[in-house]
Formats: sequence, structure tokens, C-alpha cells
Amino acid sequence: MKAKVNSISMDYSLDGPAKARAVVLVHGFPLGRASWKPQVEALKKDFRVLAYDLRGMGRSGLGKAPLLLEQYADDLLALMSRLKLEKAALCGLSMGGYIALRALQKAPERFWALALADTRAEADSDEARLKRAAGIAALRRKGVAAYGAAMLPSLLAPGSLKSNPSLGSSLIRIICANKADGLANALAAMAGRTDSTAALAGFKLPVLVLAGELDKLTPPETAEGMAVRVPGARLELIPNAGHLSNLENPGHFNGVLLEFLKKAAA
Ligand code: MLT
Repeated sequence: MKAKVNSISMDYSLDGPAKARAVVLVHGFPLGRASWKPQVEALKKDFRVLAYDLRGMGRSGLGKAPLLLEQYADDLLALMSRLKLEKAALCGLSMGGYIALRALQKAPERFWALALADTRAEADSDEARLKRAAGIAALRRKGVAAYGAAMLPSLLAPGSLKSNPSLGSSLIRIICANKADGLANALAAMAGRTDSTAALAGFKLPVLVLAGELDKLTPPETAEGMAVRVPGARLELIPNAGHLSNLENPGHFNGVLLEFLKKAAA
């Protein structure tokens, strides 16, 4: 479905009982809402589940550059308002986690629970910013397909493609649905994002931190460092999974997420 939000057309799915409590899923980079398919299926019996393509990604409109992470947080809040979702639980993976952290700081009253998967609260280091610059150059030079294929090994645990051979091709499909400009804008926005570390101690809602045991991009120590700063947060490591823990071990990920959301909603 499509909704006009902040001057762009946003592509989204909304599933589950109309009166159930809402959960919003915010995807990672360089993916799209299709990367939440196993979670939409698992959650939609009990919750009203919104998954959407970030601006410039999947089937959502590109919008204007320069783009800051703040805009993605504004899009999330505006899409919720447009769909009359007063209050939601927020689940963000990696870049989706950066957006979730920022949206929660802006509008804490709009959220009843937060799940942060394979993400971090810190801003980019200088080294990471330079890698983003190289990423933008590579996208322009080689295009989305080559950029995505080169990224896959860092996104997945070594055994994930062996145990699930179709995962690689479905990820390439999701990545290739993106425009080079949309991904380049996202890299620049991530490079310029603020540091959310200081805000963690002030979070007053139930928080779950998830990480793939074999995540190389946001390793378990990063997840632990974030979880200890949030009062009462729960930390869960997902076995046999790398950075895309929701897709590499969806059974375990969904079990933990569903249990957390049901408890937080009770
Ligand atoms: C993601 O999965 O969203 C990215 O790895 C985030 C990042 O590049 O910082």
C-alpha cells in the first residue's frame, strides 16, 4: 500500500487485527520492508504490524538530498500519524535501530516498547565515516547489485548461506530493489547521525536488545554495552546468526520478540 508522507510516497504493509496493539518494524541497510517477512508472519496474529520501505529504498519515493537521519525519524512518526497509530512498539534492525532510537528520543509518548536488533547507539567513528564515503563512491561506480553482493559476507554468519541457500538470492533481490541514490543518501545520513548513548539511561519503556552471536558489524559486546545502559533492558543473543539475525535464525528471533512484546503489552 502507499501513503503520502512528508512529500514522498511511502510503501508499507499493515497486517493483523485492526484493534490490536501496534508494532512498527524498521528495516536495515541496504534492505527494504521485505526483509521483515518472517516477523510480519509471526506477529500478525497478535499485533497490528506496520512494515514500510524507508525513503529512497524499496518502493518508497526518493525525496530530496541532502538527507539526515532526522528525516527518517520524522517519516516514521508521520507515517504512524497518517495511519492513525497513536502508539506503537518499535523494532529496528541496524539502521532501523538508529532511526528507532532517534524517534523515541523525539516522541517518547508514541511508543510502548522498543526492540533493538543488531544495532548500536553510538555515532560513526571517523573511520566508519570514511568507509561510508568509499561506499558512496562504490555505489556510483559499480551500481547497486555489485555493491550489495560485496556486502553480503559482512552481513551474514559464515554458515547461514549453507544452511539456507535461498537466503543469498532473496537478499540480493531485496537489495536490488533499491536505487543507488537512495542508498547513497542513506550512507550520508548514517555518517552524520547523532550519538544516542546518553539517552539510553532515560528510557522508561520495556526494552529488548537482540544481536546475532556472530554479528561482525555490531558484535554482541556492542549489544551488551547498550543493554547495560538501559534500566531493566533484556539482552538476547541469537545463535547461528550474524548481522541479519531476524533472517538467519527467524525461529529464535521471533520467539524472543513475541514473548517480549506479549509481556510488554500485558
Ligand atoms: C545496517 O544493517 O543497517 C547497516 O549495517 C548499518 C550501518 O551501516 O551502520
